[in-house]
Amino acid sequence: MVEPEKVRCRICGGNVSEFLDLGRQPLSDAFRAPDCTEEEFFYRLAVGRCELCTMVQMTEEVPRERMFHHGYPYRSSGSSVMRQHFTRTALRYIETELMGPDPFFVEIGCNDGVLLRTMAESGVRHLGFEPSGAVAATARGRGARVRSDFFDEPAGIALRDREGPADVVYSANTICHIPYMQSVLRGVDVLLGPSGVFVFEDPYLGDIIDKTAFDQIYDEHFFLFSARSVLAMAERSGFELVDVERLPVHGGEVRYTLARPGMRRRAGSVGRLLAWEDARGLAEPETLAGFAAAVGRVRSELPDLLRSLRDGGKTVVGYGATAKSATVTNHCGIGPDLVSYICDTTPAKQGRLTPGAHIPVRPPAAFAADRPDYALLFAWNHADEIMAKERRFRASGGRWIRYVPEVRVL
Ligand code: SAM
Ligand code: TMP
Ligand code: ZN
Repeated sequence: MVEPEKVRCRICGGNVSEFLDLGRQPLSDAFRAPDCTEEEFFYRLAVGRCELCTMVQMTEEVPRERMFHHGYPYRSSGSSVMRQHFTRTALRYIETELMGPDPFFVEIGCNDGVLLRTMAESGVRHLGFEPSGAVAATARGRGARVRSDFFDEPAGIALRDREGPADVVYSANTICHIPYMQSVLRGVDVLLGPSGVFVFEDPYLGDIIDKTAFDQIYDEHFFLFSARSVLAMAERSGFELVDVERLPVHGGEVRYTLARPGMRRRAGSVGRLLAWEDARGLAEPETLAGFAAAVGRVRSELPDLLRSLRDGGKTVVGYGATAKSATVTNHCGIGPDLVSYICDTTPAKQGRLTPGAHIPVRPPAAFAADRPDYALLFAWNHADEIMAKERRFRASGGRWIRYVPEVRVL
């Protein structure tokens, strides 16, 4: 008998043991034109934990060009909370790390320039790497300097040769997308000045486990970071983890700051978060098995609820055609028979069908006009912003359905 091939950790080469299989999944951001006849791409979405460094990661990689291309629809500026978050972040680095005579700020995955516009307006020398053409063009329109390229080791070397060392290499919701992490870390190592910092923020394994937020797992989220796994990753690649900050955005993230060894004092938050993770048993196989069991409960309860509402003659629509919603709809078998459409503000998603499940996407005006009985909140990470905007829905008797941290009607 031929042994199945072992999956090796993309950080340390250790054995990755799978703990959750979310089945056959489409690309989470591949919204389809209704008349499209092209065969849809599917892959197997499963995650495992490295037995050596504890890094949680996908067991199968989707080629980067399939996900990030001219038609990539996600717009970072689509949320007012996120616009504010990135303006504040830019100002913070301008006031702390970028006070020298000719500072240089590099962003990996700058999308539509939601952060770099502040760098441009403040006259700070900067460069964004953004392989997805349409969003890169929007960023340029906002005054940002953008290279339409993936960041990796060759890109880091070329930039250092051309423009010298960076003071800050920053990245939000992108580093966890990158299976070829070794190359990125080597690229940052070449590019970063001696006292520079490498800062990245991504969904936090602690929040994902505690909230049963299994929809944070999809093709683009290759790694689910924790302080413990990022510490190991930093040390292996010649960096030191000097700070961690928990962020409330996107359902719970951590901002990690890496520096060259001995260059920065390590903040107390690092030890505190590591201690919390150890006490919580965050990356213990039993914890991960418990998470998988909780995902199984949502998978049976959510479609049950939607079927009983439909059978009772109620109307249900979705709110927010997030990449996350691809995992939920495809894993739970939710199609247009249970959720008649999903409303979303993103022009590039409207008029299309969601990947795999083929639920139509409509502008929020449809939601206001139709007054459905129930709205399934796929964009739960933007709940405060959306609830405030849609106060009238609840006031006129509409009910929200949540599935994070568990299935409930509000
Ligand atoms: N930073 C923004 C934010 O937090 O909203 C954008 C996040 S978006 C989920 C991820 C972005 O990273 C996409 O625009 C994608 O095109 C870009 N990306 C993916 N791989 C990349 C790489 N190797 N280098 C630079 N950008 C990359
Ligand atoms: P995200 O969770 O990956 O940021 O995606 C959020 C999606 O929800 C995105 O497609 C835009 C959409 N959205 C709305 O339709 N209305 C809103 O008020 C917000 C904040 C997001
Ligand atoms: Zn490992």
